[in-house]
Amino acid sequence: MEKAARQLRPVLWIAFLVALTSAGHYLTPPAYRLWHSLFQRLYYLPVVYAAISFGWRGGLVTAAFSGACYLPHILTTWSDQHHYARDQYAEIFMFFAVGLVTGVLSDRERAQRAELKRVYEELQSSFEQVKRADRLSSLGQLAAGLAHEIRNPLSSIDGAAEVLQTGTDSEDVRQETLTIIRRECARLFRLLTDLLDFARPRQPELGVVNLENVLEKVINLVGHSAGREIRFVKETSPQLPAILGDEEQLAQVFLNLSINAVQAMPEGGEIRLQARRCDHGVVVEVLDQGVGVPEEHLDRIFDPFFTTKDTGTGLGLSVVHQIVTQHGGTVSAQRNPDRGMTFRVFLPSKPLPETREKG
Ligand SMILES: Nc1ncnc2c1ncn2[C@@H]1O[C@H](COP(=O)(O)OP(=O)(O)O)[C@@H](O)[C@H]1O
Ligand SMILES: [Mg+2]
Repeated sequence: MEKAARQLRPVLWIAFLVALTSAGHYLTPPAYRLWHSLFQRLYYLPVVYAAISFGWRGGLVTAAFSGACYLPHILTTWSDQHHYARDQYAEIFMFFAVGLVTGVLSDRERAQRAELKRVYEELQSSFEQVKRADRLSSLGQLAAGLAHEIRNPLSSIDGAAEVLQTGTDSEDVRQETLTIIRRECARLFRLLTDLLDFARPRQPELGVVNLENVLEKVINLVGHSAGREIRFVKETSPQLPAILGDEEQLAQVFLNLSINAVQAMPEGGEIRLQARRCDHGVVVEVLDQGVGVPEEHLDRIFDPFFTTKDTGTGLGLSVVHQIVTQHGGTVSAQRNPDRGMTFRVFLPSKPLPETREKG
């Protein structure tokens, strides 16, 4: 229904233009030769318009329609001037030629556009799959460190249970031991909740994102598995502007950057997550004191599958890039003057049509 309405409008325009040009011919006295030459060429407008709108068939039909409107005029008005009339017939032939050529070109362009659209959608959907795969791989990388984090509370609980089992008369010791058990259980629960929050598959959802919370969540999640020799520092300036975006996806951005930072610092050190307001949004920087990226790799690290790690997927940074771009932002990497890297993410604060229509 909507499509028919959309197609009707150019048809009406074409009919109107042909009718107008024909009216010009029939109503202008033959003596005004210049005007007649002009009107005759005006037929090209609807022919070209039809060819662009409906392809070569539209071009030919309109050429035929224009010719049919024009022909009686040639026969009645110019029948005694053979030369001039012959030119007019040639012109009608040209209507067809122009209609056909323009139409074929426009058809080809339309086909290319449809093909591009298809390829774009295909790419988009494979990137969605890559994002899911990367999510699982991030979890895998976190899990390696988590074993340690789980073992500690478990041995505390085990130790406490042993104390209770051997039996103790002191009520104080009993209470203290139970408190330890409950505290360690709570820690394990928190750990699981953080992990599951991130692992749960979910539709992308746009909303107002509180970056402060996102960074907090990321630090908790990575902090669990990073080990004691790595220290996370969060610095956010007060009153960060709100960002319109998908909170889980933005969490994935800073999670990937933080995991990379941790992996770049086998000796330990400090990772700073800094967020501050800027002209049109927020800049978040992830600074590490790790091994850094050699100059010759700098322009390849965002490429999918580029990795220097034995068990790396090389997808982390390309997912970061894709999510940030979808939010209308930018991401860049820089070597720190002393050591390590700084990854800078800019996110605009105003709503973005690009992200909104995706939803
Ligand atoms: N903070 C960092 N410090 C040093 N090198 C980094 C850092 N972040 C990324 N890299 C480099 O960029 C490459 C690509 O990173 P990424 O796309 O996350 O894939 P992966 O972590 O699976 O290798 C890494 O293999 C590493 O060489
Ligand atoms: Mg990575």
